Amino acid sequence: MDIQSIYQKTIIFAAHKHSENNQLIPDSQLPYVVHLSNVAMEILITASNTKEFDLNFATQIALLHDTLEDTTTTFHELELEFGIEIAEGVSALTKNDNLPKEEKMLDSLNRISSQRKEVWAVKLADRITNLQKPPKTWDSLKKRKYKNEAEVILEKLKGANQYLENRLQVKIQEYESYIH
Ligand code: NI
Repeated sequence: MDIQSIYQKTIIFAAHKHSENNQLIPDSQLPYVVHLSNVAMEILITASNTKEFDLNFATQIALLHDTLEDTTTTFHELELEFGIEIAEGVSALTKNDNLPKEEKMLDSLNRISSQRKEVWAVKLADRITNLQKPPKTWDSLKKRKYKNEAEVILEKLKGANQYLENRLQVKIQEYESYIH
């Protein structure tokens, strides 16, 4: 299948799943699929700036990255529809809800580290996409915490993709101006 067809199939699957509970991007009126499409867009641009990058694989991971965490989709369903490698990649990007809150991110980053570099790339692209102007309701502590998390992600996933690491670094610096 060509990348355009893969994109269409995958975004339709993900959009259906995330609309089952009318999921919106937090603090906005935008349907969640806008976030998924933004992450996939980062991945598409990244592919043209990265040697040996599996765009078909990475695009599916990007569009599906929150299905296990935020919707009723099961691992088995992803495996049937997209294959075991995609299911495992998405699973690594999914927080383990049995862990205490403060351990969830590091645990996921550790599991991402054992996946292909395209899975690392989706995590970087996800945070790049999310480092926008924070909602007015966020206080400095919350913003500071969000920025620190981004720094941990960048540190833990170093060596995966120079292009995205550079972009995340710039986004982190820009985010500082929203904190004060
Ligand atoms: Ni996301």
